[in-house]
Amino acid sequence: METLCSSIITGSQVQGRENACEKTSYMFLRKELAVRLANTMREVTLLPANLLNQPSVKLVQSWYSQSFEELLEYEKRSPEDPHTLNDFLEILIKIRNRHNDVVPTMAQGVVEYKAKFGFDPFISSNVQYFLDRFYTSRISFRMLINQHTLLFGDATCLAKPKHIGGIDPACNVAAVVRDAYETAKMLCEQYYMMAPELDIKEINSKTPQKPIQVVYVPSHLFHMLFELFKNSMRATVELYEISSEGLPPVKALVTLGKEDLSIKISDQGGGVPLRKIDRLFNYMYSTAPTPPLDLTQTTVPLAGFGYGLPISRLYARYFQGDLKLYSVEGVGTDAVIYLKALSSESFERLPVFNKSVWRHYQTGPEADDWSNPSSDPRDTSTYKTNR
Ligand SMILES: Nc1ncnc2c1ncn2[C@@H]1O[C@H](COP(=O)(O)OP(=O)(O)OP(=O)(O)O)[C@@H](O)[C@H]1O
Ligand SMILES: [Mg+2]
Repeated sequence: METLCSSIITGSQVQGRENACEKTSYMFLRKELAVRLANTMREVTLLPANLLNQPSVKLVQSWYSQSFEELLEYEKRSPEDPHTLNDFLEILIKIRNRHNDVVPTMAQGVVEYKAKFGFDPFISSNVQYFLDRFYTSRISFRMLINQHTLLFGDATCLAKPKHIGGIDPACNVAAVVRDAYETAKMLCEQYYMMAPELDIKEINSKTPQKPIQVVYVPSHLFHMLFELFKNSMRATVELYEISSEGLPPVKALVTLGKEDLSIKISDQGGGVPLRKIDRLFNYMYSTAPTPPLDLTQTTVPLAGFGYGLPISRLYARYFQGDLKLYSVEGVGTDAVIYLKALSSESFERLPVFNKSVWRHYQTGPEADDWSNPSSDPRDTSTYKTNR
């Protein structure tokens, strides 16, 4: 538990709620958050100019600049001043709210770019690299803010007394699986008037008979599972909708080994061909219909941007885990979330900003050194097809 908590609460000091120190957290965050924002803002500027010029990308940039300036105001404010800590809490909440729509707005920027300039494999590789880093940084940024506001805000975690901010030191994995399943089921029933059942199994190879628990952020786990269940349910219902047979269940297997805690979600929804698996994680391949380029709209659509899988994978990787898809076309798909069983290995995985990052944006994809006509980087025809 120590690594997970210490790295995301104060950087150096381990804090449970009993000994958490708001001043220390303040001193750490006012610098750390500003640094993370600054790194992201620097990296945004390395994106191709045509993408940077899209209105949605500019809007996101303006949010980052404003939040950065607001944080800088605390550079010289003493934690001993009675107003400082309260003001800081308020500004963190304001910043968090301002950044609520960063993911769909950036996604819209990519759609705007594609609508005007089409698909380019070099740009796509840069966008993929950038967005993975950008969204990871955002996950970490929100994690830090949430820890501070949950630990030191007014409603100090009364509802969940054992939690340390957003972290559950004894997160019951099967319970989160069920919760995510139920939420996805509700949505699925709204759309299709039916939903597959859940068949859940636990194998605890460390301490058999005991429920599998982990030190983790339940909201992150929920997010990943919810996305996987939505996908599995949709595939299953769409394949079986008109068949007279009942829907095959979606299976969940939760296992604990020495190193990995794995959660496998299996469906019989017909699967995805191997050729397409990688692109399911690609931000620029999205099959989403082009949303209107109207920024006066108050809500930005998220569902259907095709970001369910790539963002879930970032959540898994953020604490050194991973998310992989194994599909058998014609039958179904297994999606596996891997988490670290030991919290001492669950430290943050963060993008660093250095010269090699800069070089990455300058160099195009290497020519293929295996014969494969369809992967010729100049051949963009394959990229324009839907998934
Ligand atoms: N279990 C699955 N079975 C079959 N196809 C799948 C499965 N999971 C994902 N896919 C395919 O991968 C695509 C991408 O999934 P992803 O969750 O990233 O985006 P999405 O579901 O299209 O949109 P959203 O952003 O709302 O999740 C899906 O549209 C679907 O075609
Ligand atoms: Mg999805």
